Amino acid sequence: MEFRDFKELAKIRQSCRDYDPDREVEIEKLQTCLDTMKLAPSACNAQPYYYYIVHGENAKNISKFLQLGKMNSFTKDVNAFAIVTEENYNLTAKISSQVKNQDFKSVDIGISTAYFTAEATTLGLSTCVIGWFDEEKIQKFLNTKSRIRLVIAIGYAKNEEIREKKRKTSDALYKIIPEDL
Ligand SMILES: Cc1cc2nc3c(=O)[nH]c(=O)nc-3n(C[C@H](O)[C@H](O)[C@H](O)COP(=O)(O)O)c2cc1C
Repeated sequence: MEFRDFKELAKIRQSCRDYDPDREVEIEKLQTCLDTMKLAPSACNAQPYYYYIVHGENAKNISKFLQLGKMNSFTKDVNAFAIVTEENYNLTAKISSQVKNQDFKSVDIGISTAYFTAEATTLGLSTCVIGWFDEEKIQKFLNTKSRIRLVIAIGYAKNEEIREKKRKTSDALYKIIPEDL
């Protein structure tokens, strides 16, 4: 898929719910996504997250923890997942977050997944950020007590057609305040 700039990349990055089960994701590509994720900004540079990459047979096990009836049933064909846990803050980030009453951790985690998925798109991979999962089962699988915050499905799309983005109107999303206000 061709793109010339970030806006075009953002247009072709879309949540994929139809994966080719016969195409494995190259480990080198997953590594590149992780390398780019590491470049994401975070409050006080605290980077309060950890990425587990699960692929092959393990991906089949994980996909069971993401489905409820038809919900996320597409994950049965996904050959790789990134599981994103929430990790401790450093002292400055903890204090800033408390003093300012802001949930910087969620913001940081979200930005890191945006970097990960954008890089995946440049590599011809498709992704879907998944917020619906059985947290306890994934914790048990990974043998961690950390909170599981997001799972990213990663693979090759069966159908590469790019959908028109459905987004709120510009008026509902932003305003450029005039200088002379
Ligand atoms: C935090 C978060 C959780 C999400 N959870 C799910 C999910 O459980 N299942 C799913 O199919 N899509 C999930 N999505 C994908 C959104 O539905 C999708 O990003 C949105 O509809 C916009 O479509 P697009 O990504 O194709 O542009 C999630 C996205 C985010 C950012």
